[in-house]
Amino acid sequence: MSVPRLVTLTTLVLAVPLLGSCAGDQSTLAPAGRAAREVAWLWWAMLTFSSLVLAVVTVLWVYAMLRRPREHGDELRRRIERRWLVGGGLLLPGLSILALLIFGIPVGQRMLPLPLVGEQPLRIEVTGHQWWWEVRYPDSGVVTANQLHLPVGRPVDLTLRSADVIHAFWVPRLGGKLDMIPGRSNVLRLQADEAGVFRGQCSEFCGTQHAHMAISVQAQPVEEFDAWIQARQQPVAPARLQAPAAALFAEHCGVCHRVAGVSEGNRAPDLSDLGSRPRLGAGVLSNQPGAIANWLREHQRLKPGNGMPLHDHLSDDQLDALAEWLEALAP
Ligand code: CUA
Repeated sequence: MSVPRLVTLTTLVLAVPLLGSCAGDQSTLAPAGRAAREVAWLWWAMLTFSSLVLAVVTVLWVYAMLRRPREHGDELRRRIERRWLVGGGLLLPGLSILALLIFGIPVGQRMLPLPLVGEQPLRIEVTGHQWWWEVRYPDSGVVTANQLHLPVGRPVDLTLRSADVIHAFWVPRLGGKLDMIPGRSNVLRLQADEAGVFRGQCSEFCGTQHAHMAISVQAQPVEEFDAWIQARQQPVAPARLQAPAAALFAEHCGVCHRVAGVSEGNRAPDLSDLGSRPRLGAGVLSNQPGAIANWLREHQRLKPGNGMPLHDHLSDDQLDALAEWLEALAP
């Protein structure tokens, strides 16, 4: 294969994964919220500007290669060199950076969680764990994990914390990313402008299962969101609490996991509404019928190193009963 052909082919092959990120439920170029629009706008502005710089430098370079060499006296040569050094080496980059700052600083300012007049932001606390997300709605007492529900059109202030190492919270279609640092609380303001399901992903390497640390985000119309919260504030049905599997759960799982009305463990994800979640294991499996039974048996193969011990001491019947009971945990 000739060299130009090889270059063209390589470029095309490399373009596939690059263009793959231009769409989909995790694309910064398909913003669905205010902060994400700011990020996308800054990205396009920087791409345009840097393309312009590339074009100018390329034209100058081609011109320098093609033009006929000229003989200059020493004095004139020094002056031309100085002009390029000051103009091209100091003035041009200085002005370029200034232009980008004039552009970028107000964008950053608009993304800050500044005080608002009128309707106050909804508060949600998200804590990163190796390797899952704890989600709390402090105003309503609702707790869930690995899923985040938001009302459309209302600003949301997410207080981001970490329980162990540094994680980073990022839902590309809704806003920028922010680190979750042990011992600190960072606030990220998001506002979804349209209903939809988005994907968030931990974006700071936090251990072997960093890639399996996804969060499913659902933006809903306000009434739907309120109904979602209210459903989770209801007391758990007595039949569910009295089932034999509830006692089994409290005995074997309840030290780490909480299920409202059954156990108070707080080292692992709250499972009170597990049956209603779209995925299991922070994005590992789709939560379809039978998936929980599979997860209880195969979780260390599906997500090696996760904090849950093997369930070798439980019989198949016990595991099936637990899975069936967990699958029904939905408001
Ligand atoms: Cu948590 Cu990467």
